[in-house]
Amino acid sequence: MARNKFDVDEELETPFSLMHLKRLLVYIAPYKGKITLTVCIMLIASAANLIGPYLIKQAIDKEIPEKNINGLLILSGIYLLALIITGVCMKYRIRMMSDIGQSVIKKIRADLFIHLQKLSFSFYDNRPHGKILVRVVNYVNSLSDLLSNGLINLITDIFSLVVILGFMLFIDVKLTFLALLGFPVLAAIIFLIKNAQRKAWQNLSNKQSNMNAYIHESINGIRVTQAFAREEENKRIFQEVSDGYRSSWMKAVYIQFLLWPSIENISVLTVSFIYVIGISFIGNGVTVGSLVAFVGYLWMFWTPLANIGIFYNAIINAMAYLERIFEMMDEKPTVMSDPDAVELKEIKGKVEFKNVVFGYEEEKILNNISFKVNPGDTIALVGATGSGKTTIISLLSRFYDINSGQIKIDDVDIKTVTIPSLRKQMGVMLQDSLIFSGTIMDNIRYGRLDATDEEVIMAARAVRAHQFIIEMEDGYQTEVNERGTRLSNGQRQLISFARALLANPRILILDEATSSIDTETEIALQKGLETLLTGRTSFIIAHRLSTIQSATRILFIDKGEILEEGSHEDLMNTKGHYWKLYHSQHLSLNIG
Ligand SMILES: Nc1ncnc2c1ncn2[C@@H]1O[C@H](COP(=O)(O)OP(=O)(O)OP(=O)(O)O)[C@@H](O)[C@H]1O
Ligand SMILES: [Mg+2]
Repeated sequence: MARNKFDVDEELETPFSLMHLKRLLVYIAPYKGKITLTVCIMLIASAANLIGPYLIKQAIDKEIPEKNINGLLILSGIYLLALIITGVCMKYRIRMMSDIGQSVIKKIRADLFIHLQKLSFSFYDNRPHGKILVRVVNYVNSLSDLLSNGLINLITDIFSLVVILGFMLFIDVKLTFLALLGFPVLAAIIFLIKNAQRKAWQNLSNKQSNMNAYIHESINGIRVTQAFAREEENKRIFQEVSDGYRSSWMKAVYIQFLLWPSIENISVLTVSFIYVIGISFIGNGVTVGSLVAFVGYLWMFWTPLANIGIFYNAIINAMAYLERIFEMMDEKPTVMSDPDAVELKEIKGKVEFKNVVFGYEEEKILNNISFKVNPGDTIALVGATGSGKTTIISLLSRFYDINSGQIKIDDVDIKTVTIPSLRKQMGVMLQDSLIFSGTIMDNIRYGRLDATDEEVIMAARAVRAHQFIIEMEDGYQTEVNERGTRLSNGQRQLISFARALLANPRILILDEATSSIDTETEIALQKGLETLLTGRTSFIIAHRLSTIQSATRILFIDKGEILEEGSHEDLMNTKGHYWKLYHSQHLSLNIG
């Protein structure tokens, strides 16, 4: 069976890159002070922790033989104090590091999100949205561990190692060298396991990403799934994706748990070895107390060493995530304002397309489109599905850049003005009317955030949405969700219609604005629309020709070219494509 398209892994192995690390440091830099403080506290904690075996040595070698109860009590007191200091410092460290780690992550995520908002349509056209989601959520989360523990631990682990080694050397140089015989073995094990482990985690993160992307798409498409009774098939795909996740998880965990037992074994072996050897040293400058203390330090020795290995691993892992995250941040919007772009002044609404050629990819979709529109005109675009109507009006808002030719508004090339100043003067109602989570009032106000309630209601009245809105249980305050499931298609269209109108734009673009609205509402709307359209340039795309008969001019589009152009009467007289289309609709209406 062919692999489903969700089981495609991203390449996550990245060579260590100083550049990514430097970029990450920019995010960490604001917390320099807090980090330094935490490191200091951690150093105090490890120092307090490390004093333990030395105190035991003092007790065995000095206080106990001398039967000095007071001395023993003092040593116990110091030990207790050291334990308390360690505990308190640890607690503080966890709080501080979580705080710093999460702040950094929050900033990275915010930057990523803000950047995503700027990216052009073409970025979103060709990617599963679930995978974008995974980068913003999962990949950023994966940095958390490195940020909150890794860096600080590294410093304290190195410090501990040095101090432990110092104590060990101080107690006995020969024993220390004997104990270090275990080191090459440990290094080899960490090295071997570490590589396997990293691969396993990368694999796991890939499988997780695939699963998330699939779940995301399935939930989005649940209606279609159920309508076509595709549940079984989807279950199969999901099972496949989820099996992949499970087995890579098992593998990762298995390898993960190889590490600590191995370290433990080595510790036990070296400690036993030192006991056996150490006893023969006793009397030759080594006391019982110092042997016990030495072994105490030896126990402590392996943990920071292994931690450093693990840290190295974590940073290599994080490198791959960082690369993906920064790659997305570096993604340039394909449509950008020119560096020397100027604000588009308040426009009158003259529009001109001059030999416009455009293709989303290689293939040309629009061929040499030219037309002129006077301020206040209503232009209707008609033509078969896929002929390029939506494409033409997307170019006017500069959602995509054209390949050649020119688009001018009020005789200004739209390439020379800033994008926000251009889009702010247009009211666009896209073909798929999107409703956001929130109240109906919020949804209409999306068109112009500073509109008053009265203005919102006026816009709703104008598009004949007012009636059905006030009939809902909370009127304008009724909550609707992101997919607008509480609303019928027509109601959704009316709301986005009101939204476009509220912006009070000089140029109004309505793509299939009325396709789902019943004829009665449409006729009522038509009257409101006429007053609304006066004084604005508007582009109307409609399959139902009844909507557009009063347009100043109709452009008949076919395969990215304008075949006919003129008023309804002109085109009817020409008896061409438009005339044919008109008659076929009327015929089907009459038959229907
Ligand atoms: N984002 C895109 N990426 C690549 N090709 C696209 C994209 N959007 C549309 N197309 C292609 O461009 C052509 C014109 O599409 P367009 O959406 O402009 O048609 P339309 O006239 O609006 O059709 P409809 O009446 O069905 O809305 C189609 O062949 C379509 O496959
Ligand atoms: Mg379209």
